[in-house]
Amino acid sequence: MSEDIFRIIYKSAAAHPADVMLGHGHIANLLATARQRNRAADVSGVLVYTGLGFFQVLEGPRSSVQPIFESILADRRHHTLAVIEMDFTAERRFDGWAMGFLGTTRELDDRLNGIGLGPVGGPETLDRLLRRTLLVLVDSPISMPWLGAREDGLGAALARRF
Ligand SMILES: Cc1cc2nc3c(=O)[nH]c(=O)nc-3n(C[C@H](O)[C@H](O)[C@H](O)COP(=O)(O)O)c2cc1C
Repeated sequence: MSEDIFRIIYKSAAAHPADVMLGHGHIANLLATARQRNRAADVSGVLVYTGLGFFQVLEGPRSSVQPIFESILADRRHHTLAVIEMDFTAERRFDGWAMGFLGTTRELDDRLNGIGLGPVGGPETLDRLLRRTLLVLVDSPISMPWLGAREDGLGAALARRF
């Protein structure tokens, strides 16, 4: 039923540079927690980490999405969170993904460049980058083979579909 799925889309800025976010395990840790909690709560979605910031889609019963989002809001691994969309939706876009992950892969760069974003530069491009990513993902979610792929050693576990 159309009223059943609540979806929040937001973007935020990472609290630390990419070498710290990746090297200190921030991303891997938050993904492990997220997948466990989301799966138990019937929440699905995708997390995009651009190296500068995050973009995330969370979808599921409102009573599940809301407390998870409140935890995310309070999380100090990111800041300057801005909600892009918060509404009920007819269907999930990331059904089966406890939290898909899209990192700063060459594929993503190529794809974003292919739609005219240009090279990813300083913080001023974050807004533009996240908006482009949103369009690419929400228009054509999980069928894309590069969703979840990484090149930095975090490995195939991150690409697994749950
Ligand atoms: C960018 C980002 C995305 C996150 N996504 C999720 C998520 O989808 N699900 C989740 O349970 N926790 C997610 N977390 C972790 C939560 O912020 C929080 O640490 C975790 O849910 C544990 O909740 P608690 O701190 O209230 O105990 C995310 C954190 C960050 C920084």
